[in-house]
Amino acid sequence: MVQLTLPKNSTIRTGKTWPAPEGATNLRKVQIYRWNPDDGKNPSVDTYHVDMDTCGPMVLDALIKIKNEIDPTLTFRRSCREGICGSCAMNIDGINTLACIYGMDEVKGDIKIYPLPHMPVIKDLIPDLTHFYAQHASIMPWLETKTNHPQKEWRQSVEDREKLDGLYECVMCACCSTSCPSYWWNGDRYLGPAALLHAYRWIIDSRDEATGERLDELEDPFKLYRCHTIMNCAKTCPKGLNPAKAIAEIKKMMVERVV
Ligand code: SF4
Ligand code: SF4
Ligand code: FES
Repeated sequence: MVQLTLPKNSTIRTGKTWPAPEGATNLRKVQIYRWNPDDGKNPSVDTYHVDMDTCGPMVLDALIKIKNEIDPTLTFRRSCREGICGSCAMNIDGINTLACIYGMDEVKGDIKIYPLPHMPVIKDLIPDLTHFYAQHASIMPWLETKTNHPQKEWRQSVEDREKLDGLYECVMCACCSTSCPSYWWNGDRYLGPAALLHAYRWIIDSRDEATGERLDELEDPFKLYRCHTIMNCAKTCPKGLNPAKAIAEIKKMMVERVV
């Protein structure tokens, strides 16, 4: 069972089972977490039947089909449909991932879809990411320079640019942070793997001139040091990134500058 943050004083009630589309023979059962803050009811898990003969292969295809053809009230985020925008992050079959690049053939049996765990939910599959984005903003996700601006551009060698590989690809989907037990319990003060991966991305950017300030900001018992190398973050990242490694590199830099 996914670790959900349920609305106050609520439990999950039995949901509605929607009838299978008439005449369809190749059906897949999809169970989806539903909660509407405006109807006063407890959350539920509704069951839908998707005709696989007329549906694309990804979980997002099934969600769009359900919304278009069965239940227009189903609410979820999505934009790019190709793993770039990070909007469609949710928990599918117990895994935090992007619905648009997660194939239904990777799920055995019924497809169970919940919002990202341990986040307040706005509606159905949409988590409230306000705090997550504020933490990202707090690490100054931009180039900080002190010397005069060059006439044309801040230059970077090929080797220095390569140091950003495995970091710049992050799409801020929050799959990693919401899979991290340390973030579940201390997310108010621990920055979590996504924000820390971004912090490291700017710390090691050869053009940035605020490394000292950036490290000073992270020198805190909660912001950085609540990572206990549990590695859920690297395991779940749908882009194949390794936030735990970035966090370990920051910790190493902290030690090296003290010595
Ligand atoms: S390695 Fe650190 S950031 Fe990643 S899941 Fe574990 S505690 Fe969280
Ligand atoms: S590191 Fe991976 S899981 Fe975490 S926010 Fe970035 S893309 Fe998503
Ligand atoms: S819709 Fe953009 S990442 Fe899935």
